[in-house]
Amino acid sequence: MKIGILTGGGDCPGLNSVIRAVVRKAANEGQSVVGLRYGWKGLLEKDCVSLDLRSVSGILPKGGTILGTSRTNPYKKEGGVELAKKNFRELGLDALVAIGGEDTLGVATKLSTEGLNIVGVPKTIDNDLGATDFTFGFDTSVNIVMECIDRLHTTAESHNRIMVVEVMGRHAGWIAAYAGIAGGADYILIPEIPIEIEEVCESIKKRHQRGKNFSIVVVSEGAAFKDKDLFLQEQKLDEFGHVRLGGIGHVLGELIEKKTGFETRVTVLGHIQRGGSPSAFDRVLGTRFGVKAYDLIKSGDFGKMACLKGNEVVGVPLTEATAKLKTLDLKLYDIAKIFFC
Ligand code: F6P
Repeated sequence: MKIGILTGGGDCPGLNSVIRAVVRKAANEGQSVVGLRYGWKGLLEKDCVSLDLRSVSGILPKGGTILGTSRTNPYKKEGGVELAKKNFRELGLDALVAIGGEDTLGVATKLSTEGLNIVGVPKTIDNDLGATDFTFGFDTSVNIVMECIDRLHTTAESHNRIMVVEVMGRHAGWIAAYAGIAGGADYILIPEIPIEIEEVCESIKKRHQRGKNFSIVVVSEGAAFKDKDLFLQEQKLDEFGHVRLGGIGHVLGELIEKKTGFETRVTVLGHIQRGGSPSAFDRVLGTRFGVKAYDLIKSGDFGKMACLKGNEVVGVPLTEATAKLKTLDLKLYDIAKIFFC
């Protein structure tokens, strides 16, 4: 067998664990693997590199992806789908592992219904993919944000300040909620629930009345005020129709300072949340997903995605993974709220 593998969309820690697992398992069984560079772009341009034991040696602790990534959408290119199908044949691929989030897996789903042998692996720091309990990348990201919140605590306390921390997550509040709870945030704002600024400020004032001289507010980049638009870094859409979110932190910071009278500072964590070495959890999850992807291919179970259900890694139809955005489980937010103010 000749297996192709690609990584598409935003990078995240753990991608290399999947690549390594697929290559190692394939090598154990005498099969060959080629990496397509820069996501679907690699398939459209036949830009590939052969992957053997040497190419994956030492990549487990490395962040990012050794294959490179892009947000290329074959369905947005003139003749893109036909070209993808032709190149798949010409490269002699028996199967392809597509590692990505909703966009990359959305393309995988469609190409698979067109007859290409594809299996998916879910990745994203946002943890917003259906079908799987967790995506790899999320745990590392949460740990980075938690550490930043810990650090912000000491400077906030020394200066009697409010610290607003803007985190990623797109339209789901997973990173904000998990990292906020883990870091002991005093308020957490998520895309799933509109921001009530008066409530936020009242809660901060109450906290200060009971003797605390600082507060930490975590806000997700996709959070917004009731009936108001999202905050965007730019209006331009990418090939999958996504805007670049960002900016709510500064707006919120200004409002909080004005309404409470407490000095406020804003930290936008940005791509720090996606960089660097994966956590142990993400390395193990990525490895398990990679092995599962190989096993799905071996058994001819195409059109499926490896995913985590409880503590089992199973295969589910790709269509399930991309059908609906998995927003934050609000039971978790109820727990977070216990610690507000
Ligand atoms: O989907 C992952 C993610 O990191 C989001 O949390 C964020 O909104 C987006 O990607 C940023 O993407 P870019 O790589 O275009 O800056």
